[in-house]
Amino acid sequence: AQAEIGLIGLGVMGSNLALNIAEKGNKIAVFNRTVDATRKFYAEAGELQSQIVPCETIEEFVAAIRPPRPIIIMIKAGEPVDQQMELLKPYLENNDIMIDAGNANFRDTMRRFDNLKDSGLTFIGMGVSGGEEGARHGPSIMVGGKEESWKRVEKVLTSIAAKYNEDPCVAWLGENGAGHFVKTIHNGIEYADMQMIAEIYGILRDGLKMSATEIGEVFGTWNKGRLNSYLIEITEKVLKAADPITGKPIVDLILDKAGQKGTGKWSVIEAQNMGIPATAIEAAVAARSISSVKSEREAAEKVLGLPAVGEFKVADKAAFLKDLESALLAAKIGAYAQGFAVMAQASREFNWNLPMPTIARIWRAGCIIRSVFLDEITTAFTKDPNVANLIVTPAFADMVKETDGALRRVVSAAALGGLPVPALASALGYFDSYRRGRGTANVIQAQRDFFGAHGFDRVDGADAHHGPWGSGLNA
Ligand code: 6PG
Repeated sequence: AQAEIGLIGLGVMGSNLALNIAEKGNKIAVFNRTVDATRKFYAEAGELQSQIVPCETIEEFVAAIRPPRPIIIMIKAGEPVDQQMELLKPYLENNDIMIDAGNANFRDTMRRFDNLKDSGLTFIGMGVSGGEEGARHGPSIMVGGKEESWKRVEKVLTSIAAKYNEDPCVAWLGENGAGHFVKTIHNGIEYADMQMIAEIYGILRDGLKMSATEIGEVFGTWNKGRLNSYLIEITEKVLKAADPITGKPIVDLILDKAGQKGTGKWSVIEAQNMGIPATAIEAAVAARSISSVKSEREAAEKVLGLPAVGEFKVADKAAFLKDLESALLAAKIGAYAQGFAVMAQASREFNWNLPMPTIARIWRAGCIIRSVFLDEITTAFTKDPNVANLIVTPAFADMVKETDGALRRVVSAAALGGLPVPALASALGYFDSYRRGRGTANVIQAQRDFFGAHGFDRVDGADAHHGPWGSGLNA
């Protein structure tokens, strides 16, 4: 029998995805630019070999797949994907489907859809989350493209996706760039989640002077409660791991410079383009950028010194730890509310009709941000899919009201103690601005009118749109 699907790119993610596909009983043809990788992959596939067709030429590869041929491309995002698609195109037939499974910028995905428009070929932009383990044993999969293309791959993708209880974490989310857009926002939220955890770690390390192992214990305890999630779970493990060379906690030996490959930044750029505040994600991206200028920070510490705040004092450590847990939950709510608001606006701008409850549903397992919390988001959006913002759904409004006091105390304590908490503080700022019916932009409007005659609307609805600034502007 012919292969049900093909995969190009036997790097770590591609190999793991291919093994996952084979293991779930789907025959798969594989191809890699360098033949050696293909041979090695096949040689190491063990009992899964019977489900794998290793191919050394593109001709052989394409012929091995049942038409219309779905072909997953799992290579470095960007230019290489365009090159691979060009190489592949001449061998394909009408309705064959190229599937980009990398972390593509959805604008590239949109362009690729456009370029293929008159070719008879189709395309899927597919977000895959869960890292190497996820790819091998069950990722969360976000699909964008034509519904017919989805139908062709639905069975295979459903078989390999992570399951939350019985529910597969894969869905068709909309046309063209929808899948990659949602994956980008997933990553933006991932950045915020990680940064907030790092900020709490900073308070425990530099404020309460706790050791890495002790902090690991704290996260371990939290992982049994409402913060239960993959990221909290691995944070405990990371903090408790010892360096094999020195025996010290490995985390204390890791340089504090974070890398980034672009998805977080794209989330923020798209949010800004659409005028949707995503301040927690912004703070997280900026925090990585600040982290990367290590030598500048060291030089600045010499010039400015650390804030002269004296000892970080908490009256009741147990109560403060409870506050930290609640604060992290509150801030997390802010980040997710922002991420979902960005997706809701993108859905309108790009006519995707993104299904919010489904997105939350397929993030409950498999992906990096998986958590019990996402089950609560699923429930909230299922009850009210068109709500303006997650934080005004009844369940989340209650949660915000219950936890924002703790966030306020933690952000205050950090500020007074000179400890940076940009993501936590931005979530608090977001709640405080979003919930206040009468804000302060009246002053901005007055200023704009004063220097630029931009005009303003009045609260009383009167038909006078300029202020009495005394230079003829108030005519
Ligand atoms: C996932 C991850 C994964 C990866 C990203 C972000 O969902 O499995 O998001 O895609 O971690 O590439 O990487 P950076 O932190 O390097 O930007």
